Formats: sequence, structure tokens, C-alpha cells
Amino acid sequence: MNWLTLMADEILCAIPRPLADAFWLPEKGSTAAGGVDWLFNLILFVSIFFFVLIVVLTFYFLLRFRRSKGVKPEKSPTHSMVLEVTWTVIPTIIVTIIFYLGFTGYMNLSVPPEDAYEIQVTAQKWQWFFTYPNGHVEGNLHVPVDQPVQLVMTSEDVIHSLYIPAFRTKMDAVPGRYTKTWFEANKVGQYVIFCAEYCGTGHSDMSAFVIVHQPGEFEKWLEDAGNFVDRMSPADAGQLLFTTRGCTQCHKIDGTDDIGPTLNGLFGKKRVMVDRTEITAEENYIRESIVNPQAKIIAGFDPVMPTYKGKLKDKEITVIIEYIKTLKP
Ligand code: CUA
Repeated sequence: MNWLTLMADEILCAIPRPLADAFWLPEKGSTAAGGVDWLFNLILFVSIFFFVLIVVLTFYFLLRFRRSKGVKPEKSPTHSMVLEVTWTVIPTIIVTIIFYLGFTGYMNLSVPPEDAYEIQVTAQKWQWFFTYPNGHVEGNLHVPVDQPVQLVMTSEDVIHSLYIPAFRTKMDAVPGRYTKTWFEANKVGQYVIFCAEYCGTGHSDMSAFVIVHQPGEFEKWLEDAGNFVDRMSPADAGQLLFTTRGCTQCHKIDGTDDIGPTLNGLFGKKRVMVDRTEITAEENYIRESIVNPQAKIIAGFDPVMPTYKGKLKDKEITVIIEYIKTLKP
């Protein structure tokens, strides 16, 4: 900390604790959150101070110097050097301080430490995929506590934006290029991830969780996560994949249609396609719908499902089909 941040800290310390630790901000879960909130509060309180000062003075002058009956207004001065210099220099100093704090804060947020743990992020309509160094793919973000994590992000279709309010982290995922962001979670727990860039019908459903693991537990989780399909019954493993890989974003299992058709009672049923052909929903049809979703579209639905080719292993597709078989009305 240098003298500038120390000085600004002094100003903030004068503000009562409950106000400075504002109730309108989300809980803090990362090392960056404190600094971001601190600067936000500083700018907010400086703005409130000048807003109140100007409004109060405006009303005071309105009343104090109002035109009274029978009194001729005095000639007012046309120029004041002292006033001009004062209201140029003071705001310039304040804005420079805010720029300096904002710029250094931005640099800290955008340059990850060299030893950061790297996780790949892929965004697509309408879900997040997190790929870990061992190749495991998951729809939720798992991270170790007290360790810097770098996200290398891209999108498969339109622009999305990964937003973790508790970490004060937000970064666009752009098709055709990589963007990076980083954070260090400092509190074990579960936090929400949102998509903060409008990306179509399912935008508001494009959420996931960050799970911050206790020291030593993350490695254990990662080791187990890669092979749960072998340890569980096929239908259970299928259900887990169904809920963690984003299928629920578009497919409901309560019998009502959403962006995609409901999967309840789907298996074994005859369905009419957009080209009016009739198809029985059996294993091969479901498999094709997962790896090549545009091949056959059920009448009344838009061809918006992304392919899961390369994102689900063959044995994972098999257990998802086993799970769909269990969904009966
Ligand atoms: Cu993805 Cu909005």
C-alpha cells in the first residue's frame, strides 16, 4: 500500500462500519472482493458527499439570494480566478486518485499470478463447461480454497459472460478467441455463476455453481470425478450427468416441454419430426440427438441444441440413455 491508498483508507475508516461493509453488496468469497468493494464504496461516498453539498448549496443560494420586492439586484461579479482554479484543481485531484486506484486495481484483476491453477471454460447456448487438467469435464466449477485459479475461456457460438458475484469476477467468453480471468477463493462454500451477456432464449437459465473445496479435498474430488460412471448404477450415473452437464437447462423431466421436449415418457414413444416422418424414440435416436442434434428435430421445436460430440464419452451417453428410460409419467 502506498500513501494514496492509505489516505483513501483513512477516509473510508471514518465511515461507520455497517455502511462501509455495505449490505447491498454480495458476500465476499475471494481475495479481490475486499479491494473492489472498498474502491466502489470510496467512489460512492465521494459522489454522495458532493451530491449533497451541491444540492444543499443550491437551495441555500436560492433562498438567500432570492429577489425581494423593492430591492434592486446588485451587480454580480463576472469572473473569479480563485473560484475557477478551485473548482478545476480539486476535482482533477479527486479524479486522478480514483483513476490511479481503478487502474492498479484493474491490472491486479487481469494479470494472474504465475503459479495459478488453470481450468478451461467453454460457453455455449446455454451452459458452461469446465475442463480440468486431467480431462474431466463438468458443468459446475470446482476450485481449491486459498489458491489462485486461472480461467481460459472461449465460446462455441455467441458472446457469453462468466460472472461470479461473490468473487467480483466477470469476463466475456468470445467465439474464436481466448479470454482469461483469475481469482483466489478464500472461503470454502458454494457460490453462483451467472451469464452476464444476453445470449438468447435460455440466457437467464445459463447459471452454474462454483464449489470451493477445503484444503486437500479438491485433489480428491478431481480424482473421483473422472470415474464415477464406473462406480454408480447406470441410471444414477446418467442422472448425475443429466443434471451436471446442462441438459436440465432445456429439457424438463416433469412432463412439460421447455426449450426442448420433455424427456418424461419419451423412451419408446413415436414422435413426429418437422418433416412429418415418424420416429420411435429408442437408443439410436437418442444417441444421434445427443451427438448430432440437428439431424432429426421433433415438430414444434427449434433446432437450437448444441452437439455433445467430444463432450460426452460413449459410456456417458449410454448411461444417460439408461436414465432417460427410467423417466416415466
Ligand atoms: Cu450465455 Cu447469456
